Amino acid sequence: MREFEKIKRLPPYVFAVVNQLKMELRHAGEDIIDLGMGNPDQPTPQHIVDKLCEAAQDGRNHRYSMSKGIPGLRKAICGWYKTKFDVDLDPETEAIATIGSKEGLAHLAVAITSPGDLILTPNPAYPIHPYGFIIAGADIRHVPMGPGRDYFEDVQKAVKDSWPRPKILVVNFPSNPTAQVVDLDFYVKLVDFARENDLIVISDIAYAEITFDGYQCPSIMQVPGAKDVAVEFYSLSKTYNMPGWRMGFMVGNKEIVGALAKIKSYLDYGTFQPLQIAACAALNGPQDCVAEIRAMYQSRRDVLINGMHQMGWMAEKPKASMFVWAEIPDEFKAMGSLEFSKRMLKEGGVAVSPGIGFGDYGDNYVRIALIENEHRTRQALRGMRQFLHAGG
Ligand SMILES: Cc1ncc(COP(=O)(O)O)c(C=O)c1O
Repeated sequence: MREFEKIKRLPPYVFAVVNQLKMELRHAGEDIIDLGMGNPDQPTPQHIVDKLCEAAQDGRNHRYSMSKGIPGLRKAICGWYKTKFDVDLDPETEAIATIGSKEGLAHLAVAITSPGDLILTPNPAYPIHPYGFIIAGADIRHVPMGPGRDYFEDVQKAVKDSWPRPKILVVNFPSNPTAQVVDLDFYVKLVDFARENDLIVISDIAYAEITFDGYQCPSIMQVPGAKDVAVEFYSLSKTYNMPGWRMGFMVGNKEIVGALAKIKSYLDYGTFQPLQIAACAALNGPQDCVAEIRAMYQSRRDVLINGMHQMGWMAEKPKASMFVWAEIPDEFKAMGSLEFSKRMLKEGGVAVSPGIGFGDYGDNYVRIALIENEHRTRQALRGMRQFLHAGG
């Protein structure tokens, strides 16, 4: 049996356990409502699809493209930052397109870390935040996050207590999986702190537009001087219902953008050019689709949270993201989030993501994704109630 060191450092995928069980139950004819994955369920807005079809008809778009993204896309990215955050960026040196933000996060880790570097990542976290660096051979220190904790304080403590000194800090707000948000003040403090401690900050704002009740997501790039210490990733997957298209980007510090551009020039030729052209249509075009998508998640959130509260499951109402991060009711806590999720699937017909899959600090929680319509969400609530009230 061959063993590969890098593969050995990647633990078995916890979500695979729930997915396997879900498949078995479906094969046995059960109607399972899947609120596990963060996979948007709605189609991409028509004007973006039309642009893709039009661009695909043009043979000039069938050639190798540019690994850092075509100039028009980098201009559209900078235009989006200007409109949304009033931030000025240079499309030539401060913006780069990625094949989904996940690809960019993983390859950035490969580009800028060396074995032995210490990286601070949130726990619980979206898995590529820690594992991108683990794949790159770096060492991770987990910064706990969750309701009732002050992330900035936890970061300060982690930096103070770590040796060697950490090189990079990953932040992700609105958070996947915890749905926590921050205000601009957090980034003001963070940029100062990063400068004092010679830290690179990698921010991920994939859910920047999935915000509720008037909350506006800030960008670290709004802080004067942020470009000295930070880069930021964004994704078209959630904002424009484009998860399968693999369109993301990174902006900020020139040296770090340059490092990602260089490594990508060895690894890829950029995504299919018609996709890049359609991504320009998404970023430059009418944004009413974004308001509709935001409203859809907000009403699903309300249905889910109201229903949960009615059954006595007092999960916190998220201000952003497409997730409810729900603390497991006390009488079920001892079994842990994986067993709780398996039981909810078998006894309630509802799939959710066990918090342990995002890191040890998530084990008292499950993540429930807002990826089913209101009718199916109500049906899921009946399943949850049936399971919870049947007893622990
Ligand atoms: C926080 C966060 N970052 C990045 C991504 C990856 O998005 P993309 O589709 O752009 O790779 C996700 C996807 O779920 C996410 O939740």
